[in-house]
Amino acid sequence: MVWSGQSLIRVSDVDVPVSFRIGPSVFRDPGKLSFDYLPDRMVHREKQTQRMFGLMRPIVEAGVSSNAFLYGPVGTGKTHTAKRFCLDLKKYASERDRAIDFALVNCRQRMGDDAVLLTLVRHFDAHFPERGFSVAEKLDSLKKHVEKMKVHLIVILDEVDALLKKSGADLIYSFSRAAEESTTAKGTISMVLVSQRPNALEYMDAAALSTFRRSNVVEFPRYDRTEIGDILSDRIGLAMHRGTVGDELVGMIAEIASEFGDARYAIELLEKAGMLADEEGEETIEAEHVRAAKAHVHPTDVQERLKQLDTAKKLVLLAIARKIRKKTHITMGETEDAYEVVCEEFKEKPRAHTQLWKYVRELDALGLVDTRLSGEGVVGKTTLISLPELPAKTLIEDLERTLKRR
Ligand SMILES: Nc1ncnc2c1ncn2[C@@H]1O[C@H](COP(=O)(O)OP(=O)(O)OP(=O)(O)O)[C@@H](O)[C@H]1O
Ligand SMILES: [Mg+2]
Repeated sequence: MVWSGQSLIRVSDVDVPVSFRIGPSVFRDPGKLSFDYLPDRMVHREKQTQRMFGLMRPIVEAGVSSNAFLYGPVGTGKTHTAKRFCLDLKKYASERDRAIDFALVNCRQRMGDDAVLLTLVRHFDAHFPERGFSVAEKLDSLKKHVEKMKVHLIVILDEVDALLKKSGADLIYSFSRAAEESTTAKGTISMVLVSQRPNALEYMDAAALSTFRRSNVVEFPRYDRTEIGDILSDRIGLAMHRGTVGDELVGMIAEIASEFGDARYAIELLEKAGMLADEEGEETIEAEHVRAAKAHVHPTDVQERLKQLDTAKKLVLLAIARKIRKKTHITMGETEDAYEVVCEEFKEKPRAHTQLWKYVRELDALGLVDTRLSGEGVVGKTTLISLPELPAKTLIEDLERTLKRR
């Protein structure tokens, strides 16, 4: 072989020069850092798991359906804990001759009753046609599958607020009715609802809400520095070669991510830092790789969402933030008044009512504001707007700064 200075790989007995360096990697199994890798156990989620077991064990032990509502901020392990729990419960049930099956639907990706039901029916019948069946027919088909298979189906409705906003609580209500009508000999349906928003269930009416009593709520708080450190150490053991990530590096990543309490951010920082180390041909990850990774990977926090806004939407949000300072919520009318004042100040032409309404919905979809219909006690139904995450003061400062800079 005469390719001096170049690496060679052997492909079916022919030596081929390659232009990339084939060196060692800090990663032993990079798939273990991927977003769809489900850990065998969720570190520091023992309490939540045990609580879910307390809520759901009647499914196994008495054949009755049970529901739970999981909520907490971004990256706190809601989706993965729900999945892990269902897998473990399925095993626990099968050891007791009970058949449990579960299906997870992300309601933000599968918007509306129709799309959610289609996903669930296809869980049993992969070829179920996309068109030609009504919501009622799909629901019927799902119930028949569940009965025929004699399984108890746990439906995980992830990011359920998106479903509730688009279609209301009809589907959730149908599932709980199906559970009530069914006799124990046949299969029935339970639900695990998941949301970042503690108030997601406010979109339900009293009838649907009654199946999600307060006691069925499981809270997922943000992780602190130590907890993120433990989650990272666990993952490093699975994904990285021994000795490539020092303890102080784990501490450094945990420190950065603990500001948001977000485990996903921590894992993404680790992955990116490892890639940078590999690119430089380093055998270990260094602090500088983590710092560089931080510039590439962003937490899914509010500041990031703010950056996505154009001027028109920033003005609307500023109006809401200013008006709401000493209140818990404001009405659409109050928003409109404040918006006109803000537009005048920043010399922008105010948009018409329907456009303003559209902006508010978009801010809601981004999770920057929360909207809900006023209940009884307020004359006429109106939309109430509140701020879910950031204090108004911080929002105002940030928005004024970026708007002035134009
Ligand atoms: N306690 C934990 N132990 C191990 N891994 C965890 C833990 N918590 C979260 N993770 C990992 O962090 C990532 C985010 O977790 P998950 O998707 O469950 O968060 P989430 O609360 O559903 O976030 P979001 O609100 O954005 O949907 C996943 O890769 C998950 O495996
Ligand atoms: Mg999730």
